[in-house]
Amino acid sequence: MTGTFKFHIDTWGCQMNVLDSERMAGLLQARGHVRAGEVQDADVLLFNTCNVREKAESKLYSELGLYSGWKRERSGRVIGVTGCVAQQEGGRILENLPYVDFVLGTGNVEKLPEAIERAAERPQYLEFVTDSPVYQFHQISRGSHFQAFVTAIEGCDQFCTFCVVPFTRGRERSRRSSEIVAEVSELAQKGYTEITLLGQTVNAYRCPETGISLAELLAGLSRIEEIARLRFLTSHPAFVTPEFARALGQYPRIARYFHLPAQSGSDRILRRMKRRYTAGEYLETLELVRREAPDVVFSSDFIVGFPGETEEDFEQTLRLIREAQFGSVFAFVYSPRPGTAASRWGRETEVPLEVARERLERVLELQREIQRRQNEDLKGRTYEVLVEGDSKHGLSLKGRTSCNRIVHFDPPGRDRVRAGEYVHVRIEKGFENSLRGALA
Ligand code: SAM
Ligand code: SF4
Ligand code: F3S
Repeated sequence: MTGTFKFHIDTWGCQMNVLDSERMAGLLQARGHVRAGEVQDADVLLFNTCNVREKAESKLYSELGLYSGWKRERSGRVIGVTGCVAQQEGGRILENLPYVDFVLGTGNVEKLPEAIERAAERPQYLEFVTDSPVYQFHQISRGSHFQAFVTAIEGCDQFCTFCVVPFTRGRERSRRSSEIVAEVSELAQKGYTEITLLGQTVNAYRCPETGISLAELLAGLSRIEEIARLRFLTSHPAFVTPEFARALGQYPRIARYFHLPAQSGSDRILRRMKRRYTAGEYLETLELVRREAPDVVFSSDFIVGFPGETEEDFEQTLRLIREAQFGSVFAFVYSPRPGTAASRWGRETEVPLEVARERLERVLELQREIQRRQNEDLKGRTYEVLVEGDSKHGLSLKGRTSCNRIVHFDPPGRDRVRAGEYVHVRIEKGFENSLRGALA
């Protein structure tokens, strides 16, 4: 394709994909191309895909099916598939779907403009590169003017037996701390105040140049005056160190929110998942952090119906959830994924889908009850809230506390409070998933 064009990007999956889409948009805009308001106006349609559960993958194929017609409507239109399904399925997508022009692996975002220019040359499959992540951070087209994602570490070496990420994102590689500091400093100058450092095991971070850890990196970033909140996602329980817990206690700009996926509360299942900790060790980690930084709120991920999970294993998961008192929980029915160890285990260990679904509902119900109680107890407290925008409820605004709780409030004279500002809100009522309050 030659000349400038309008593009549209559909993004699925985690924050890494969101950031990759922002990078893609930035690369295209730097060359004079523009975002299309709607798919109908676009010349180039990109699907930035997720492969973590089968649902995400099948959704891609059904969506793609809908766009074969879109492509025929106007000659010269281009469809590209990027992201984690692209990385894992590669050329097979081109074989099965003749209207897809190119497939671009996750390590190859910077080749996007070239892939589009050469779209007419089908078939195109641009593979993965696994160098240390270096990217053009000056060109990212961010979705917000005050919150930004910044890569700390790419890939994953853990090979948990259920997970595709090591196959879709490659080996673990940390970015140079000097690059990260330069990117965050530039963001600070542009007015960004909340930074989220990203990595599948972000707390395994080690600068390839200086050897500094995530705790040291966050401590250094805390010195950048304009940055009010530093978030980090996602941590692996086996790599939480006393040094990291101390940093949370010492540096209040590190957000009071810690996402630490447990996956299960049964030691037998954790072993089968290859998670490298027991439920007891997991709870000790929470204690270690809470001793140093008592106001940190944890959240977690759980998989139910993992092969071989008995009712007793599952009850241990419920027990862990009761003891941990998370601020929120994401729970998923196990989904067998290509290339993973668990997907090759015999059918005899499979948990029937209706049993897994019922367990999912029990996890969610227990967690709803915990959240309801926790949030009701917050009545009367005052939080600093970063205003994110309009709330769905009437004329209210919506914001987030450092501990990641959502707060709705009605400012007197709406125009006086804008998205991106920090305000203090006194909590008047707690609900299952959010709080309501008034400006303090
Ligand atoms: N790196 C993080 C970690 O170590 O926990 C999370 C990676 S994954 C992108 C996000 C969540 O998806 C996981 O924590 C897990 O609960 C869930 N997940 C991953 N693979 C899954 C699978 N095969 N079936 C169901 N859920 C899965
Ligand atoms: Fe997947 Fe495990 Fe790596 Fe997380 S740590 S990305 S769950 S392999
Ligand atoms: Fe999905 Fe890839 Fe993220 S598989 S969860 S988009 S790393």
